[in-house]
Amino acid sequence: MSGAPFQLVRLQSSHDRTSFKSGSEALDQYFSQQVSQDIRRRVTACYVALTPDQRIAGYYTLASAGLLLTELPANVAKKLPRYPSVPAVRMGRLAVAQDFKGQGLGGALLADALDRAICSDIAAYALVVDAKDDAAVAFYRHHGLIALADQPKTLFLPLATARSASSGCKK
Ligand SMILES: CC(C)(COP(=O)(O)OP(=O)(O)OC[C@H]1O[C@@H](n2cnc3c(N)ncnc32)[C@H](O)[C@@H]1OP(=O)(O)O)[C@@H](O)C(=O)NCCC(=O)NCCS
Repeated sequence: MSGAPFQLVRLQSSHDRTSFKSGSEALDQYFSQQVSQDIRRRVTACYVALTPDQRIAGYYTLASAGLLLTELPANVAKKLPRYPSVPAVRMGRLAVAQDFKGQGLGGALLADALDRAICSDIAAYALVVDAKDDAAVAFYRHHGLIALADQPKTLFLPLATARSASSGCKK
């Protein structure tokens, strides 16, 4: 990253979500209008990057998910146990505010999501993401994620692979 001192924390009600603009209307609208309700209902968790003056520079969401073995590329599936599905963590949304794009924050948020998934006590085989368009697919591929067999906009990264690049867990 550029060295900007972002703080990566769980979204709190005191954070101002209304002025967040990533350039994606769907992601901005979800963040300003829907995310708190999803958090309350425990269908998502949300983490934000804060500037020193508490502006939100980016956010992502995490929830538990499953990956069917039949969705995975054959060379990956053949190395997994013969269960119908394996557990995963879904990063459903990721967005960086326009003023902060191109400074490494998107990559830092993805790394933070991977660290949380790796360090959780609850096992998951992979982080899975839903890319909203081809540019997002290119971003995820740049970071080593692999597309599902028949769903080019859903990509995954085995956490065993990510663990080798992780900075380690605190506890
Ligand atoms: C996609 C997005 C999160 C990237 O955030 P960002 O902070 O601008 O990206 P970063 O500066 O962290 O880029 C990190 C790396 O990814 C690369 N990268 C960024 N966007 C890329 C793209 N579309 N295709 C390929 N590589 C890309 C950068 O070149 C950089 O590479 P490097 O580490 O080798 O130098 C941001 O542009 C965004 O919020 N877009 C709108 C919402 C969106 O598309 N979300 C994606 C999930 S739906």
